[in-house]
Amino acid sequence: MKRIVLFASGSGSNVENIEHYFRDNPEVSISCVLSNKKDAKVFERCNRLNLNAIYFNRHSFYNSDCVLNILKSFNPDLIVLAGFLWKIPDNLIANYPNKIINIHPALLPKYGGKGMYGMYVHEAVKNNNEVETGITIHYVNENYDEGAIIKQAKVALSPNDTPEMIAEKVHHLEYEHFPKVIEQVLMGT
Ligand code: GAR
Repeated sequence: MKRIVLFASGSGSNVENIEHYFRDNPEVSISCVLSNKKDAKVFERCNRLNLNAIYFNRHSFYNSDCVLNILKSFNPDLIVLAGFLWKIPDNLIANYPNKIINIHPALLPKYGGKGMYGMYVHEAVKNNNEVETGITIHYVNENYDEGAIIKQAKVALSPNDTPEMIAEKVHHLEYEHFPKVIEQVLMGT
């Protein structure tokens, strides 16, 4: 049995999609979903999906081993950032080398780094009149959005696409590719 722990900060639609993908797979279980946002919609989803969910605050994340100890208690094979918006602290990176992966809603190295998350990414893509965008699934290291790339997928944009339409196109790519990549990485752990 492979165990995954998910981190999420917002709506959690990727969490729901990942849960759906692995629901009937007896070899993979989602041990817990961790979130830094008390009122995030992801908690409602976890409740409905019967997933363990834990909230943590900034102090416990950056100034203590609280989150590390929670992770240790689940002994995860893989930690998956599924719409998680804070930088991962060094104590977690050091304890889980090559065991943390992230999804970024653009084609890194473009539109990455501090402040580039969620709708900010899609607005920047729109403002630069990009003809395509996509997703990047990558390992997490100590530098924001710079770990080794595992998979990228692209989608064409039209000049009429609004940032909301771009977000929707990117979400579709995420739903299609992220669970499969998680499965592949898990099989190699
Ligand atoms: C996703 O598009 C994900 O790529 C992005 O947040 C969104 C979360 O959506 N992540 C980042 O921007 C990380 N830098 P969701 O809550 O509906 O899964």
